[in-house]
Amino acid sequence: MKILAIETSCDETAAAIISGSQKDKKSGLKIVSHIIASSADMHAKTGGVIPENAAREQIKSIIPVIKEALGSQEIDAIAVTVGPGLIGSLLVGVETAKTLSYLWKKPIIPVNHLVGHIYANFIIPKENEKDFVLPEFPLLALVVSGGHTDLVYMENHGKIKYIGGTRDDAAGEAFDKTARLLGLPYPGGPNLSKQAEKFIERNKFKKLNLFPRPMIDEKNFDWSFSGLKTAVTREVTKNKNLNEEDIQKFSAEIQEAIVESLVEKSLKAIEKFKTKSFLLAGGVAANKRLREVLQARIPTSRDSGKVPRTKLHIPEINLCTDNAAYIGAAAFYNYKPLNWEKVNANPQLTITD
Ligand code: KG4
Ligand code: ZN
Repeated sequence: MKILAIETSCDETAAAIISGSQKDKKSGLKIVSHIIASSADMHAKTGGVIPENAAREQIKSIIPVIKEALGSQEIDAIAVTVGPGLIGSLLVGVETAKTLSYLWKKPIIPVNHLVGHIYANFIIPKENEKDFVLPEFPLLALVVSGGHTDLVYMENHGKIKYIGGTRDDAAGEAFDKTARLLGLPYPGGPNLSKQAEKFIERNKFKKLNLFPRPMIDEKNFDWSFSGLKTAVTREVTKNKNLNEEDIQKFSAEIQEAIVESLVEKSLKAIEKFKTKSFLLAGGVAANKRLREVLQARIPTSRDSGKVPRTKLHIPEINLCTDNAAYIGAAAFYNYKPLNWEKVNANPQLTITD
């Protein structure tokens, strides 16, 4: 089965074709084509996404991006992100997908963007095909994106239970907002992470504990990141003229506060739920430090005998941030076509909807 997937929830216009058969349900999915047009450069000029601008760019890109992903291939179904996201952006993808479904008489599968992120872990990475193993259920998935931080328990495909999440800002939002306070350009997360890397290179064993990790010792699986902005503002105003080195140091401190909070609660959840797999997903999963610390801590805690054998899965970096391949993967494993007339954009969708 070949699925054409379309993703337009924010500032990326993406289309992909994924291919899978019944037997691939056990081994993972292959990407046939994968196209992304991003309007991030335009948003860098305004320091963030202006929804009207993002939607206008979606309209310009959607047809060329789909055409390029399709080439001369025949497809069996269409998958599309219906939410959450920016309404103007979502509508471009949803209405295009509905039109194609009607014209081509192909089934259409609506996909929740947050659930989609999780399915990046079910795609065979191009760079490291032979080491790939499909996640096993039951699993825990931590979705860390620009607008959401959700920890969920999945008994199986389509069976998602909310375990915890952020009480205020999302992890990606914390990266983006504090990056802006340091004067770093949009998109904040990857730029702050680059600055942090430079500091870590020079100070490999330095303890980074300048900023608070709220709720870290609480028993729940929730986070709070909004206080980080206040703490960073306080430090930044104390140091009026930040030089390059200060920026690198603050970046490393911010990154460590976010990463440690995410990792500690993840380990607690693994300890409690004892799932077979733990999946990292969402744009923040591209963060090198978060990937490294999780990789280091999950086997360590397993060796200590405290945590049962939980295998960590992290998608290839280019599948972490928004793209259409994981939307196709989510549709493949949760194949529930709807009549095109019933498919609607819903910007408020939550991960369990
Ligand atoms: O999933 P995503 O691409 O879009 C949303 O659905 O929101 O996530 C984007 C978020 C942004 O907040 C961005 O700053 C963050 O992911 N991000 C990163 C990195 N790459 C992307 N944050 C930290 N380090 C990175 N390398
Ligand atoms: Zn996303």
